[in-house]
Amino acid sequence: MNSLQGKRALLTGASGGIGKAVLQLLLVSGAEVVVTGRDEAVLSQLISEAPGRVYPFATDLNDEKNRQALYAFCLQVGGIDILINNAGISQFSAHAEQDFSALITTNLLSPMQLTQLFMPMLKQRDGTVINIGSTFGSIGYAGFSGYCASKFGLRGYTEALQRELADSKVRVLYLAPRATRTAINTPQVDALNRALGQGVDSPEQVAKALIDQLISGRKRRYLGSAENIFVRLNALLPGLVDKALGSKLQRIKQYFKPTSAKNSVGV
Ligand SMILES: NC(=O)c1ccc[n+]([C@@H]2O[C@H](COP(=O)([O-])OP(=O)(O)OC[C@H]3O[C@@H](n4cnc5c(N)ncnc54)[C@H](OP(=O)(O)O)[C@@H]3O)[C@@H](O)[C@H]2O)c1
Repeated sequence: MNSLQGKRALLTGASGGIGKAVLQLLLVSGAEVVVTGRDEAVLSQLISEAPGRVYPFATDLNDEKNRQALYAFCLQVGGIDILINNAGISQFSAHAEQDFSALITTNLLSPMQLTQLFMPMLKQRDGTVINIGSTFGSIGYAGFSGYCASKFGLRGYTEALQRELADSKVRVLYLAPRATRTAINTPQVDALNRALGQGVDSPEQVAKALIDQLISGRKRRYLGSAENIFVRLNALLPGLVDKALGSKLQRIKQYFKPTSAKNSVGV
């Protein structure tokens, strides 16, 4: 894709930290954007970013009927060329406290089903799907068992779909941010990241990477150079990463706090 000028994107999680930054850059690049999130008031405010080029549709994507209604809305505005599966939740707590159902539904099942729903439209328009994963989609991390499972699943799903559609004009991309300054991370997670000297990106850095990837069509991208090395090391020599993370386990556990996925936290 040479440019995003005149393309129409569906951006899920547009009311969140990364979503808002992505919206700004999509608009600067000349795209129109259907924005979703659950909070109608927040979404309506996004119209002022570029009146006439932002179409808000407030809905909970975990409900099949809502996804169908969103599809009908996208048809009404003329269809979409790009699907950005960005909505997500996280939870940082002991395994016993995790709400697996909420995590897997929101981060894995809903984006898969949304992609399935929009695929015929994307095929007609030589479109693009980009799934927002995480470093934790490649590295299992204490306190993030449900989140890691969902993002490992999203990475596997994306790779299988990329290979299945290799003989079509639909592009399927995967972007894995590292820790990013947004509300998905609770104060405990922020404190843990600081204590461990974890690199943290701004939402604008993630948004820039996403737009670059949409243009270049690069299939997979992992943000952060240290995280990149860790991802590769974990794939080749997981025992080494077991040792490195094992030495930090007691410190990590100090930050555990039982929460529900509603008041979710994460990376
Ligand atoms: N921030 C990080 O450290 C980090 C690192 C790696 C990957 N990521 C990934 O980046 C993506 C964006 O995260 P973020 O940091 O921008 O988080 P965020 O600020 O908490 O935003 C999350 C977005 O997802 C939406 N959402 C959640 N559940 C939904 C549902 N059931 N239906 C519709 N929308 C729903 C939220 O909408 P509401 O307004 O309705 O809540 C919000 O717009 C996520 O997939 C996350 O896993 C984030």
